[in-house]
Amino acid sequence: AAGCFRRSIASQLSKVLDLPPENLIKSISAVPVSKKRHVADFQLSIASIIENSSGDCSAQDLHLQAQQLAERLQCDSVVSAISAGPGTVNFTINRELLAKTVLQQVWKDGSEYGVKSELFSTVPRQKAVVEFSSPNIAKKFHIGHLRSTIVGNFIANLKAVLGHEVVRINYLGDWGMQFGLLGVGFQSFGNKEKLKSSPLQHLFEVYVQINKAAEDENTKKLAKDFFRKLEEHDEQALSIWQQFRDLSIEEYIRIYKRLGVHFDEYSGESFYQEKAQEVLKMLEDKGLLQKTIKGTGVVDLSEKKDLSTVSTVMRSDGTSLYITRDLAAAIDRMNKHSWDTMIYVTDKSQSNHFQHLFQILKLMGYDWAERCQHVSFGLVQGMKTRRGEVVFLEDVLNEVRSRMLQNMTSTKTTKETQDPVETAEKVGLAALIIQDFRGLLSSDYQFSWERALQSRGDTGVFLQYTHARLHSLEQMHGNAELTDVNVSCLQEPDAISVLQHLLRYDEVLHRSSQDLQPKHIVSYLLTLSHLAAVAHKTLPVKGSAPAVAQVRHSGVGGWGAAQEGSVRALPAQPCHHW
Ligand code: ARG
Repeated sequence: AAGCFRRSIASQLSKVLDLPPENLIKSISAVPVSKKRHVADFQLSIASIIENSSGDCSAQDLHLQAQQLAERLQCDSVVSAISAGPGTVNFTINRELLAKTVLQQVWKDGSEYGVKSELFSTVPRQKAVVEFSSPNIAKKFHIGHLRSTIVGNFIANLKAVLGHEVVRINYLGDWGMQFGLLGVGFQSFGNKEKLKSSPLQHLFEVYVQINKAAEDENTKKLAKDFFRKLEEHDEQALSIWQQFRDLSIEEYIRIYKRLGVHFDEYSGESFYQEKAQEVLKMLEDKGLLQKTIKGTGVVDLSEKKDLSTVSTVMRSDGTSLYITRDLAAAIDRMNKHSWDTMIYVTDKSQSNHFQHLFQILKLMGYDWAERCQHVSFGLVQGMKTRRGEVVFLEDVLNEVRSRMLQNMTSTKTTKETQDPVETAEKVGLAALIIQDFRGLLSSDYQFSWERALQSRGDTGVFLQYTHARLHSLEQMHGNAELTDVNVSCLQEPDAISVLQHLLRYDEVLHRSSQDLQPKHIVSYLLTLSHLAAVAHKTLPVKGSAPAVAQVRHSGVGGWGAAQEGSVRALPAQPCHHW
């Protein structure tokens, strides 16, 4: 909806400024709705159009230029008022046209609202590999893995919604000494039934037990032997390992489904044992592999080539390391998918690792290393469940569901729902996601169930509540046709605020797509919900004159649809009934 207004403003400006309209569109943005109601719908930033010509400008200068420009512009059938602000020229759109255009667009596009904006038309369609979640079999699924799961899913969804091709990869920690221990541990403590019914929990228990036992030298030796057998492709050892892996993945899939997450590929470190050896050979051939006195293999990453910064890629016994397998995986993914961009999502403690990975790829002559990106996030402190420390993802999901259910049953105002458990699950998960996505991804935060699950304030609960409310209004009043509503009835300040806010959505989406931070969309949605709550009070549908009721209702339906689209992008699953 904003697009046609921006274009119209740009075309008038282009005549006066003698600049191509395409260059101006980027400098025109929808004005955020604030408590003090604002005067205009769009603003042109003067600084951004003179950026390249005259360098720095004083605030006074900018204001003067804004005033001069505003004087030279004229209102037309689209723009009904023009004014100058500090460094901006402000445009107000003809009120009836605003209501009509926005409503038409949200009705037409529904949950695709904003996606077709011209802000995205210059971005070529790309193929993106997004690698996320990537837990380690038999080890704890910690909160960092949960964060990687929801952030990665957000990025993958966002890219897909914007028309890019996305490959979602889960790179499991499915190799290493832990499987030597597990193999031995399973012989003493394993239970086939338990392995089948709850593999993740059972493998973890076995792992904990065998780790205690592994203090004794004999067990250590047995574990080493088992892992060596795995590396030598011993059929029996491999088939046990395969079972551990397959059953774990089956369970992961079931749990990810609760979060609305899926993967196109379950890859893992185990895939790259041999390929990692090929990588070492390549490094050697290119003269990049240096041996230390201890016999390990390193790649010199220092500028002066004085070994002041190195990355160790080979153990003294010639075996590969985490980074060597990552090198092999990156090359393999390029061969397999010829991607345009590859994104790794992990906590920031791995920033150095990925920096080194990209540097080595570059040294090996792979220019595409520049198109690899590490999206890192901060640490979450203090997430505990009633059972104690978080060990399994499922514990977190169950905890949020039961806490939400308890909140719902203890609140008298909660209406009866068809399926309270299902509702509690969707709302609770949205609460987890929103709490996590409100700030910058790189910031650490202190986790709090109480804060996340508050029904008022900026929470996922409030968001889902608003959505369900809009949805039920829509259902109660049937589907109004936009053609026979009178948009001139939708002119109250609270209605205009919602319309103005909807104008911003494509810009918000664009921002998130640029910096991959979900917080822009989250804060947009929370504001939309607050505005909708106000409108809900001051602009009742029930009891109003039919023409007014109809247009309000049709507006509400549109907002609901527009909100649904952005909630999905988040990626909480919208809850319709509550
Ligand atoms: N499994 C690793 C961990 O839990 C994360 C893997 C991240 N991805 C990668 N390509 N290294 O720490």
